Amino acid sequence: MSLDYKAGSVVFEKVSKHFGNVTAIDDISFTIEPGQLVTLLGPSGCGKTTTLRMIAGLEHPSEGRILIGDKDVTNLPATDRDVSMVFQSYALFPHMSVAENVAYGLTVSGTRKSEAIEKALEGLNLVGLADYGKRLPSELSGGQQQRVAVARALVLEPEVLLLDEPLSNLDAKLRRHVREEIRDLQQQLGLTAVYVTHDQEEALAVSDQIIVMNKSVIAQQGTPRELYELPASAFIADFIGDANLIVGELEKRDGGLASINVGGVEVKVPHREQTQGQVTLAVRPDAVILHQDAGATALAGEVTHASYLGNQIQYTIASELGELFVIDYRVDQPMVKGSSIALDFNARGLALVAA
Ligand SMILES: Nc1ncnc2c1ncn2[C@@H]1O[C@H](COP(=O)(O)OP(=O)(O)O)[C@@H](O)[C@H]1O
Ligand SMILES: [Mg+2]
Repeated sequence: MSLDYKAGSVVFEKVSKHFGNVTAIDDISFTIEPGQLVTLLGPSGCGKTTTLRMIAGLEHPSEGRILIGDKDVTNLPATDRDVSMVFQSYALFPHMSVAENVAYGLTVSGTRKSEAIEKALEGLNLVGLADYGKRLPSELSGGQQQRVAVARALVLEPEVLLLDEPLSNLDAKLRRHVREEIRDLQQQLGLTAVYVTHDQEEALAVSDQIIVMNKSVIAQQGTPRELYELPASAFIADFIGDANLIVGELEKRDGGLASINVGGVEVKVPHREQTQGQVTLAVRPDAVILHQDAGATALAGEVTHASYLGNQIQYTIASELGELFVIDYRVDQPMVKGSSIALDFNARGLALVAA
């Protein structure tokens, strides 16, 4: 194999980016380790694309430093960086064959034609399109065009591969398939990849680390499991998966666990820094346990909506903690709308968050 990858790290040190008087990025710092797939996740307008474009060298920071592979690239233009980008729109040339599209970046950067074609074929082989080199992009499906765009980025042997919402033009079923392919390739080649999405499920599925952004800053960085199980804030709890936010009273701490009184029911969760008094808990919809027997716990509720979805029943429960959204996988034990029930909680789906 002639394609050869040296995965680079990416470091942002106190980076800000202003466009006129709009602050797109406000003093962010993070480190991406070589060989990792890190996702920038957040709502539209939070600064994901701007961050990616600064890694690419298509935008330059107003303040701060950027290092790629330990080299300060803050002021280097895009052409002098070892990164390549896969765009949401694919951006293939319609009049060039698939192989010519993939080879294009190489020939522009001075690679001999024969070597460029050889690498292009290897790139197409990596994405499972070895037999499609002679076709035009218009003769491929959307998913295949996206794979051509990935091959075109890979043949440049980037230290860092950048992907900006690469699946957003694909339909839902295909999206899952292509995201698995991208993840497999990244792991197989040991690439450093920075992946932008606004879709939390996609981020959970593909990432080693997720950097959640909100309003130009980093809200939390961690593994998918850390973000889901130990969300630092109500924003993260609600953005990564669904969460009910409820208020409880922290009564005592025992080792790493806090005992919290939630409407008369005691729960134990990792305590973070809170010591006592009122606290906010994020409660996953499937962490609320419903009991048909209304007196089973100290916490009463009433079923106000019930929707059967085949593998689960989704309930809305009115309770003294407020309205709760509950998912129950015991579809053989439905709770009837209007009935009085009792509630408690499964500790696995609870986390203390900053209010
Ligand atoms: N070239 C630009 N000129 C002015 N404002 C911009 C420019 N690029 C981005 N912005 C603004 O910066 C903010 C972040 O944008 P962007 O990085 O595209 O967000 P995201 O990719 O998370 O949706 C937005 O408020 C956007 O309007
Ligand atoms: Mg964007």
